[in-house]
Amino acid sequence: MSPRVVSVVNMKGGVGKSTTVASLAEVLASDGMRVLVIDLDPQSNVSMMLAGQDRWIDLRKGGRTIDEYFNQYVYGGEPRFFREFIANRVSDIVGDPQLDLLISTPEFRYIERHALEKWVSQGFDIRQLNTRFSRLTSSAIENVGDSYDLVLFDCPPGISMFAEAAIELSEFIVIPTIPDYVSRLGIFAFRKRALRSMEQRRFTDERIWTLITKFEDHNTLHASEAAMLKEQFHVFDTRIPQAEQIARAAEWSEQKRTLEQKYGAAAQVIGTFAAEFRERAGLI
Ligand SMILES: Nc1ncnc2c1ncn2[C@@H]1O[C@H](COP(=O)(O)OP(=O)(O)O)[C@@H](O)[C@H]1O
Ligand SMILES: [Mg+2]
Repeated sequence: MSPRVVSVVNMKGGVGKSTTVASLAEVLASDGMRVLVIDLDPQSNVSMMLAGQDRWIDLRKGGRTIDEYFNQYVYGGEPRFFREFIANRVSDIVGDPQLDLLISTPEFRYIERHALEKWVSQGFDIRQLNTRFSRLTSSAIENVGDSYDLVLFDCPPGISMFAEAAIELSEFIVIPTIPDYVSRLGIFAFRKRALRSMEQRRFTDERIWTLITKFEDHNTLHASEAAMLKEQFHVFDTRIPQAEQIARAAEWSEQKRTLEQKYGAAAQVIGTFAAEFRERAGLI
């Protein structure tokens, strides 16, 4: 059985992509799902959130990073299997759920450029390069396919070759967005790109869902923007509120904790979102 592959993407930064990936992964893994998170953002936010700084440093020293994985295809060398780069059971949630992680590092931002320079000098055109990034990414997933029920990509803001490859591979896409005017503008262009990828595979827009994040109850702009989004796109019924505890949960804890201890009053809404995600994405 191959795992379901899902990307969490938005051209905009700061909309809660990494926070969504981390919390969704934690809830689903706590429910017994085998989850792999792949961090495609050189900012490494979700890596830090899920594994903590100390483990991130250790993994980086050990060369178990996404940049080292792709490096072997750019610079050559003795190839190692994708699974060897993955950190197992990283989360600080009690019960050691199977939440595994491939960390990113700041160096990851250079890999794409080096790969492009090298492959362009070898005569590849842009379409071939796209295919190459996609193949590398999909063969990585194939290498670990049997071990996971769900692979979640945390994408960088903007668009990168790797994010493109993740989108091409994804059967479902979550677009977190803050319900305000500027954020709504940002969704249009990006959504077109995601839709094109779905249509190429004869999928419909039923697989592209917007998640409202940082929602403020008494903010009338948020209320009207959320309603407007709902008219134009598939929007999850669950809205993630602006909540101090969600921002605090980003810091990894030495002490194992329950979802309730970690997310406080927001644990419930995070659980509701995970259940809705499961339903919309057709995950059993
Ligand atoms: N629902 C929320 N309530 C409060 N703070 C949040 C919420 N979601 C995200 N944040 C905070 O907002 C910042 C950006 O979130 P992040 O998930 O890193 O966004 P992105 O990955 O889209 O750049 C972080 O400091 C994060 O802790
Ligand atoms: Mg992020």
